[in-house]
Amino acid sequence: MNDTFLKACRGEKTDYTPVWFMRQAGRYLPEYQAIRGKISFLELCKRPELCTEVTLQPIDIFGFDAAILFSDILIAMEAMGSPLEFHEGRGPVFPEPIRSQAAVDKLIVPDPNETMPFVMETIKLLRKELKVPLIGFSGAPFTLATYLIEGGSSKVFLNTKRMAFQEPEMYHALLSKITECTSLYLQAQARAGAQALQIFDSWAGIWAPCDFERFALPYVQSIISDLRKMTDVPIIYFANNGSTLIEHSCTAGADVLGLDWRSNIGDAIKRVGNHAVQGNIDPIALFLPKAELEQRIKTLLEDAKDAKGHIFNLGHGIVPQTPPDQARIAVDAVHRFSGR
Ligand code: CP3
Repeated sequence: MNDTFLKACRGEKTDYTPVWFMRQAGRYLPEYQAIRGKISFLELCKRPELCTEVTLQPIDIFGFDAAILFSDILIAMEAMGSPLEFHEGRGPVFPEPIRSQAAVDKLIVPDPNETMPFVMETIKLLRKELKVPLIGFSGAPFTLATYLIEGGSSKVFLNTKRMAFQEPEMYHALLSKITECTSLYLQAQARAGAQALQIFDSWAGIWAPCDFERFALPYVQSIISDLRKMTDVPIIYFANNGSTLIEHSCTAGADVLGLDWRSNIGDAIKRVGNHAVQGNIDPIALFLPKAELEQRIKTLLEDAKDAKGHIFNLGHGIVPQTPPDQARIAVDAVHRFSGR
């Protein structure tokens, strides 16, 4: 197996810089569209053979150094008992938003093997096929809670912040339940064969540092401390839009900090202490002309040379409009410039 990615996560010396992209399996690939044309996104997430196929597509096409399980962070929220829908062009919708203690009490902490067997099955199938490491993942409790409380995506997160500020006990009860679910879910993924785990905190950046410390970070710390008791797989914590929160994020307990593009990677590396880093080119920079894209990648690799470990990635998910050829240029450039 090519374990370059795992070595970089652990801060061991590597022959070259490993690369994968957040959302590397998805709509920018015609191969994915071909499968999605026949089945809804939620159904797709529950079909292990198809999830396996979709996970493998970008590995086969571009030669990424790690695969990420094809699923969605919100699958586990559906398993807690909150009905989930994906609406074409609008994204996820929870038609029954969680905004009362009674609604919180109704949520269950599910056995992940019973409620999400398709995820564990996908992991097992993938481990038979893959020659690069497999990353499992979850959302961070706060990010998951925003979808449940808002009923879907949001711009200002009024309902979420209002619950945190005005009804902190209810907020804590909800977050604690999500934390317990997520902890068990990630443990089950590790047992099924996931070789690294990433926690996506996509909305971390909406908080002031003092509130991030109260309303988001403790739940991530709790999950990671549970995981440390049962597995030594590398753990990546990605706090999106978190350049003002880097010192706080370092206390999450992860091995690797995911960085968005708003910080210079060299500056961030000075702030992360004993962590490896993952990132951090602007996903839209994949639209740069070839020579400029390559130059930007070269500079990023140089800026990251003092990292304890560096995994090249985008600063957030690849956008569906990205021409696949541009992704190829980027992956090849990372490999070439870093000495593969
Ligand atoms: O390749 C991979 O990265 C693995 C699969 C993956 C998906 N979602 C597939 C997906 C992963 C790791 C996720 C994580 C996820 N899901 C996050 C965290 C990362 C981030 O982007 O911040 C979040 C916030 C979600 C919730 C979610 N799922 C939203 C808001 C949406 C709608 C917006 C969008 O991008 O379409 C989704 C849908 C989704 N998740 C798609 C895919 C491939 C598109 C579904 C389709 O085919 O129509």
